[in-house]
This record gives sequence, C-alpha cells and structure tokens, in this order.
Amino acid sequence: MAESTKHATLTIGDKTVELPIFTPTAGPDVIDIRKLYAQAGVFTYDPGFTSTASCDSTITFIDGDEGILTHRGYAIGELAEKSHYLEVCYLLLNGELPSPAELEDFEALVTNHTMIHEQMHNFFRGFRRDAHPMATMVGVVGAMSAFYHDSTDIADPWQREVASIRLIAKMPTIAAMAYKYSIGQPFVYPRNDLDYASNFLRMCFSVPAEDYVVDPILSRAMDRIFTLHADHEQNASTSTVRLASSSGANPFACIAAGIACLWGPAHGGANQACLEMLKEIGTPDRIPEFIARAKDKNDPFRLMGFGHRVYKNFDPRATVMKQSADEVLELLGVENNPILQVAKELEKQALEDPYFADKKLFPNVDFYSGIILEAMGFPTSMFTPIFALARTVGWISQWKEQLNDPQLKIGRPRQLYQGADLRAYVDIEKR
Ligand code: ACO
Repeated sequence: MAESTKHATLTIGDKTVELPIFTPTAGPDVIDIRKLYAQAGVFTYDPGFTSTASCDSTITFIDGDEGILTHRGYAIGELAEKSHYLEVCYLLLNGELPSPAELEDFEALVTNHTMIHEQMHNFFRGFRRDAHPMATMVGVVGAMSAFYHDSTDIADPWQREVASIRLIAKMPTIAAMAYKYSIGQPFVYPRNDLDYASNFLRMCFSVPAEDYVVDPILSRAMDRIFTLHADHEQNASTSTVRLASSSGANPFACIAAGIACLWGPAHGGANQACLEMLKEIGTPDRIPEFIARAKDKNDPFRLMGFGHRVYKNFDPRATVMKQSADEVLELLGVENNPILQVAKELEKQALEDPYFADKKLFPNVDFYSGIILEAMGFPTSMFTPIFALARTVGWISQWKEQLNDPQLKIGRPRQLYQGADLRAYVDIEKR
C-alpha cells in the first residue's frame, strides 16, 4: 500500500491523535484507524460497515453515486457486451485480460475439472428429496474439503490454484445436481464439448429420455447473467468469505460460508423474493397498493429488487439485465409476458415516486434477472444457486488476494457493550 501523505486529526478530551489518510486509485479517501485504540484507547462504531473499508483491493471498483462498476478497470457494460464469463473469470483471477493462448488454456483447465468425485453423489442422496438447492449447495461445497484433501493447504500456492479451479469448474455441476435432486431427476454429467453456460443449461434441463439442445441465444443470455454476477467488491458474502478465510480455514469451507450468507433475501435471495413479489402483484392495477405498502413504516414489506447499500443511482448491471430480459423473452415468443409488464410498470411508478427518488432507491441486478431465469425454465428456487455459482470466481479472487496480503490478520471486530455490569452470581434458591 502507498505511503499516506495526508493526516486527519482527532481530538478526544485532552488527547490529540494523528491518523494517516490514504488516497485510493478511485473513490473517497480512507482514514487509517488501525492504531486508534493503541493511541487513544477508543474503538470506532460502525455496524453494517457503512463507513469502513475492511481491506485494500485491486479487483473491483464501484462508484455508487455515478452507477459505475468496473472489474480490474474494465466497465461491466463493456465486459457484458464484448467479453464472456470465463474470460472475465481469468481477468478477475489474474488482473489482466488473457491472450488467445492463455484463454484457451484456462478454458481447457476449467472444462477438464467439471466432474465431481463419484462418491459425492451419495452425499447428495442424504438430503431430504425436496431440499432447497441452496441448502444442498452449502452442505456439498463444505463437504468438498472431505473429498479433495490435496487442495486444502492454504500455505501451498499450488494447492490454492487447484482449489480455485476446482471450485469454479465444479460449481455448475453441483448447482445442477442440487436442482436435479430437488425435482427427483437423475444427475446429468458435464460434457467437455460444451461451453460453460451451455453445459450448465444442459445439466439442468437434459433427461436420459431426451437430450436438451442448447439454443445459442439462451446460452449467451445465461453467460451474461454469470458475467453480471461475477464479483461485487466487499459485499456481505464476499466479506463472509474473507472473514472465514482470515482464520486460515480451507477454501471449500470459506466458499460454503459465502454461499450461506448469499442465501438471505437482503442479498442473493432477493432475486427469488423479487419474482415472487412480481407474481403476487400479478397485474399493473395492483402496483399502487404495493408501492404504498413499501412506503409504510409500519409494514415490513420492501420492494424487492430495489435499493442497494452502495448504488444511489441505477445499478449498471440492472440496465444490461433489462435489455437481456427483452431479448430472451422475444426469442422465446413471450414478449408480452405479464410479469415483465408488471416489472416495467412497477419500475416506472417507483422511479416517479418522491419516496424512492428521495431515498435514491433504484432497481438493482435482481429486479430483472428472475424474469429471464424463469423464461429459461428455472424455478425460483434455482435463482440464488445460479447467483452463487457465478459469484464463486469473485469469492475466489478476493480470497486469493487476501491470502497474498502481507498485512493479513484474523478478522476480529470489537463491540459497544451495552449489557449488565459485573455482578455477583445469585444462588438458584434466592432468585
Ligand atoms: N423498499 C422500500 N424501502 C426501502 C427499500 C425497498 N426496497 N430499500 C431501502 N428502503 C428504505 C428503508 O426503509 C430506509 O428508509 P428510512 O431511511 O426511512 O429508514 C432507507 O430506504 C435506507 O434503507 P436501509 O435498509 O437503511 O439501506 P441498506 O443500505 O442497509 O439496505 C438493501 C440495502 C438491503 C439492499 C435494501 O435496499 C433492501 O432491503 N432492498 C430490497 C432487497 C434487495 O433487493 N436486495 C438485493 C440487493 S442487491 C444484491 O445483493 C445482489
């Protein structure tokens, strides 16, 4: 990290502390408070990390006010249009776009690691037959540490590499198997002649009685959904992966922790919740009722797919996702899909409403993704597993970056204690 040239001065009572200020490549300056407790004997209080940088990173940048998202300096809109998922994976992992030969090698490496250990099939069968695919994924990905002992030593760079490729390559297979298991169909093995997105679609929709022929436009749309979800700097699940890894936990355990965090409706689970909400609204005439509920402080209902901790402008991923929704639905001949009509009208009415404008609440990536996924044939329960498989490369890139950081320390926040003062134990007969 570069030397700081500026300082902030903090005065607490009769103590004055000089705090270094770092200037990032982009984004606001960051005050370094690492020595604050040692010098002034106080902690900072920031639940939800609204003003706290937990690490320094070179992977992804977001300007939430301007609605900008870049990976290694490349704008997400340009990547979604001109690149494809595995190339973006290479970029996130290595910092630079690959040469043609590097890309060919990387794609071959991923393609050749898509099968999972055959014995893991038994592990799937231990779950209830109607288990949510996310529940199965948390368990199965965590269980990978019981199958791939040769890639759990985080001190060995080669093992870290092997674990990374295994996770990126096997996640579509695991997600598809979790789905197949939940609907009582046999598992479909990956095929090396298909690209990453087509392979996933086939593993989800093919059955022994009838092969699934992948439409290239659907495969492109699937690939774009993966690209748009690949990384998003220090979001809740990525921070979970980093925190789990800071203790030295193995990569499979860390990624399982990330999947668990992603599942919640405030994070990756929002795409499922959003489509369910759009269906509940059903017809455009009911939109005002739901907007009124979202604004009512006494009603816990929120407009799912709206609002974001960082974006106070359009989520650039939502813009691409909306275009994709139009393309996919047209291809499938369902451009008059009533749910898409509800979504478009809801977006329009919410954006015109002063409540959403004042609070800077805009559609996020999840607002349109569910409509595309449903049109492709996925049930809502598969929306978050698809997000998890796409985000795996982001988690891995951030995990690798953290392990290479010479300043790595175990993550251990402090607290503002509001509980009872020290008191004497009262014997049970006296209570
Ligand atoms: N509908 C109605 N009101 C909302 C919404 C919403 N979707 N989102 C935020 N608000 C309001 C809050 O009530 C709050 O109002 P107040 O200041 O009067 O109390 C204000 O906007 C700020 O909201 P916070 O919850 O404090 O903002 P935070 O940054 O903590 O939350 C979050 C961000 C969780 C994404 C929130 O906007 C939300 O719950 N959205 C719906 C769920 C969703 O779509 N999540 C996906 C996020 S993107 C992703 O993970 C891929």
